[in-house]
Amino acid sequence: MELIAINGSPRRDWNTGQLLEKVVEGAKAAGAGARLVHLADLQYTGCVSCFACKRIGGASYGRCAVRDDLTQLLDQCHRADSLVLGTPFYFGTESAFMRAFMERLWFQYFLYSNRKKPLAPTKKSSALIYTMNVPEAKMEEYGKTAIVQRARQIMQFLFGPCELFLSCDTLQFADYSLYDTDLFDVEAKQKRNREVFPKELEAAFELGRRLAS
Ligand SMILES: Cc1cc2nc3c(=O)[nH]c(=O)nc-3n(C[C@H](O)[C@H](O)[C@H](O)COP(=O)(O)O)c2cc1C
Repeated sequence: MELIAINGSPRRDWNTGQLLEKVVEGAKAAGAGARLVHLADLQYTGCVSCFACKRIGGASYGRCAVRDDLTQLLDQCHRADSLVLGTPFYFGTESAFMRAFMERLWFQYFLYSNRKKPLAPTKKSSALIYTMNVPEAKMEEYGKTAIVQRARQIMQFLFGPCELFLSCDTLQFADYSLYDTDLFDVEAKQKRNREVFPKELEAAFELGRRLAS
């Protein structure tokens, strides 16, 4: 059993990274092999629309043909039993690191066909983790619910059931007084970070354990 967790935040140890770290710990506690990959450490592009992955009889049929730092990671994801993609919301969608990764992970398996199944490997357990500034009650208003559901639908189409994990109203800075921002109730954010985020870390641990079981 091999679980790969992918961090789409450029901040290794902040909200998204910490949650993913817990997922990895939970998976290991269940006896799985598990590791966390930070996309910001890699040099890569999004899909370049070469269509080599759909070329009939081609050497890269069903697999991404672009050669860069994602090549090996996509191979590992292809073989993994469980995938967890974590990303902050950036301007209402996944971070650019995660968007580019998703394009490359997903498109290789898609076929323009109503008759054939996608070229994804055997089913995997999977989860999507989203972290964001807005409180959960505002997700719909800011269009985030639709983005999350769309990504989940694609994951389910390719790999089978996919869990959703949301961490809302996150703490963005250690010290808000250093930054030019008057939008937030800083005390409420800090309180939430002290009282709710630790519970989310526990839930992330359980998610890892569940996915690996
Ligand atoms: C470039 C940028 C754009 C952002 N856009 C949004 C947004 O559209 N909606 C939102 O709720 N939060 C937004 N945020 C806040 C982050 O999503 C939030 O702080 C997240 O938890 C950060 O994840 P991290 O701590 O793992 O880096 C943005 C942050 C940055 C840096």
